[in-house]
Amino acid sequence: MSYILVTGGAGYIGSHTVIELVNHGYKVVIVDNLCNSSYDAVARIEYIVKQHVPFFNVDLRDSDALDKVFKQYDIQGVIHFAALKAVGESTKIPLQYYDNNIGGTISLLNVMKANSVKTVVFSSSATVYGDATRFENMIPIPEHCPNDPTNPYGKTKYMIEQILKDIHTADNQWRSAILRYFNPIGAHPSGLLGEDPLGIPNNLLPYLAQVAIGRRDKLSIFGNDYDSHDGTPIRDYIHVVDLAKGHISALNYLNKLETGEGLFREWNLGTGKGSTVFDVYHAFCKAVGRELPYEVAGRRGGDVLNLTANATRANTELKWEATLSVEDACKDLWKWTTENPFGFNIDNYKWQVFNDDKSDYSNRLHTVSFANGFKVSLANRGALLQSVVKNGTSVVCGFQDPSRYIEKSNPFFGTTVGRVANRIGGAKFELNGNTYQLAANEGANTLHGGFHGYDKQTFFGPVAKQEKNGDKVVNTFLFKYEDKDGNNGFPGDVECVIKYTVDDESVGIEFIGSHLETSPAEATVINLTNHSYFNISGTDSTDGTVVKAITNTQLEVDDSLLPTGKFVPTHTDITKPTKIGPDCAFDYCFVVNEAGSGIDTRSDELKPVLEATHPNTNIKLVAATTDPAFQLYTGTGIDTPGFKPRSGFCVENSRFVNAINVPEWRKQVIVKRGETYGSKAKYTFVDA
Ligand code: NAD
Ligand code: UD1
Repeated sequence: MSYILVTGGAGYIGSHTVIELVNHGYKVVIVDNLCNSSYDAVARIEYIVKQHVPFFNVDLRDSDALDKVFKQYDIQGVIHFAALKAVGESTKIPLQYYDNNIGGTISLLNVMKANSVKTVVFSSSATVYGDATRFENMIPIPEHCPNDPTNPYGKTKYMIEQILKDIHTADNQWRSAILRYFNPIGAHPSGLLGEDPLGIPNNLLPYLAQVAIGRRDKLSIFGNDYDSHDGTPIRDYIHVVDLAKGHISALNYLNKLETGEGLFREWNLGTGKGSTVFDVYHAFCKAVGRELPYEVAGRRGGDVLNLTANATRANTELKWEATLSVEDACKDLWKWTTENPFGFNIDNYKWQVFNDDKSDYSNRLHTVSFANGFKVSLANRGALLQSVVKNGTSVVCGFQDPSRYIEKSNPFFGTTVGRVANRIGGAKFELNGNTYQLAANEGANTLHGGFHGYDKQTFFGPVAKQEKNGDKVVNTFLFKYEDKDGNNGFPGDVECVIKYTVDDESVGIEFIGSHLETSPAEATVINLTNHSYFNISGTDSTDGTVVKAITNTQLEVDDSLLPTGKFVPTHTDITKPTKIGPDCAFDYCFVVNEAGSGIDTRSDELKPVLEATHPNTNIKLVAATTDPAFQLYTGTGIDTPGFKPRSGFCVENSRFVNAINVPEWRKQVIVKRGETYGSKAKYTFVDA
């Protein structure tokens, strides 16, 4: 399988382009040293495209490391975004700009040559034209406009173009598409990706967005005495998604050349339409819904009246055209800004790689900490809850070593369980006249989704966000896994999203299973839960924990732990405080609502169903759910190094066990194509 290598793919334009590449069927590898970006952008790319995108934290100037990437993947071509790009900064630290941009490109081209990769799409800029108004009839600017960059940044772009030209002259099999961008603006319409400028933004829209969100007082408009309809300068603002698509068109164009045929050619990527600063200001105010403060300041040095593209060459040759407006871009930018007011930076959240191979970012451990010491860690594998620390006490069983999660003896610590939690009797069920035979992984039954259940999957994401309301800080983490038709024998394509909502005393979990419109099956079966083992004793045993539930009704089970269909009381009345231990153990499905539930319970009451305390600590756990049942399992079977029987207990929200095989219960778990399964659970840790 061949790949497109995207340098700078974690950055603003690169991340949007990676999405378009994947959407157009390309496989992508990203190389980025994260000097002006965040890996979170890559995590969000994967979340959006629902595909793994290999990522390498490599500086382009490190030729050896770069070469390893070329050796590991069959690279067909390169889109080269990686560069430093701030005009003002480049005049202060020109050497770093030349070193990074030109040095990085030379290293890249050497590695490409050594690996016989001769196709490159290069991020150039309209800045290579300098002041195009110095000539007559050069506005809108055509590609043949003479170049005269006016700052070190622009000069790096100009020089790289020249290098690519010379390489093509020397070896005419090289294919170089030079894309000269005009003013990229906007963000991904999903609200998940956008520009995340460090420090004070230089560019118009990022600055204006920070004014709107309250991070800056007012916009300074640099001069209103230009010869335009309102006195402010004219630029060609292009939506970043249109720009990203231009790269696909360029790449397709290069790929369609005859075998052995090379090319060196420049294309302007712009809309061909000019907008003034006030035009953009008004469009953004409209998106925000209010007038934003501004003042007119003096002209900014280096600015010129009009830089609008003549994009005819790209329109005709690449068959590419910008279709989105400045208004669209403003709307998308505002969505990105309000949903991510500090970009990817969340002040109480950190992550680390949670794989033995530290260069493999697919499984990461995400830790969120609060001022009161409450701390929660989640991992991509199984979208699992690895740790919760309350008052200095670890209250959830988890492994420090990521490889422990893969061991057979791991009793599902902290993990999401699906597609069907708990047991399916006889490892089979009937649906719409079809019999589905599953793999039996527990005697004759299927337990917790089978051999390749959600606990064994690496979820994409997370999309990590934070909201602050006065002193209250709430963090959310969205993880996604696409469970394809046929996995573990289940019918239908299911997109599973696990949303954690964490504040300074609780962990909420939302379980969302969408049976996709495009699924080949008419209906499927879903029952999702979380398998955390809680321990609020402060020791390695939960013995002596006092639990109290709102129900004492359980599903009666037979010898293979399958429900008989009857509701019966439990051996000990747990609606009264009950001390768990060797003589008082539970592994029962308790019924909160005998009538069962519909498929999506998320808007139902989040009912506290069980509370637990332990005399050793001052911690009370309250477990709540919207589901009609929960499994209370006191961990008799735990047998893994470092943990022993009853080191933790589970309160797993769920539908009734084996519901799919019991006529009166089936509707709790059958999800038709286009429908969404949903439920919520919440674990709150308060001072007792
Ligand atoms: P960006 O800073 O968001 O993205 C550039 C990425 O390259 C970053 O993720 C950065 O970490 C990475 N990078 C930089 N130097 C690197 C190195 N030596 N090794 C590996 N990675 C490195 O910028 P962007 O706005 O997405 O711009 C992308 C490209 O487009 C740049 O080449 C820029 O010059 C060009 N461009 C941008 C604009 C614009 O307005 N944004 C306009 C014209 C051209
Ligand atoms: C700048 C870079 C250009 C780069 C482009 C990328 C310069 C001289 N040029 O272009 O190389 O390719 O960014 O987007 O830096 N404005 C204000 N107030 C502000 C910011 C900007 O009035 O706070 C005005 C500017 O005067 C300009 C317009 O907004 O007329 C756009 O400015 P900006 O976003 O910085 O882009 P350019 O200057 O066009």
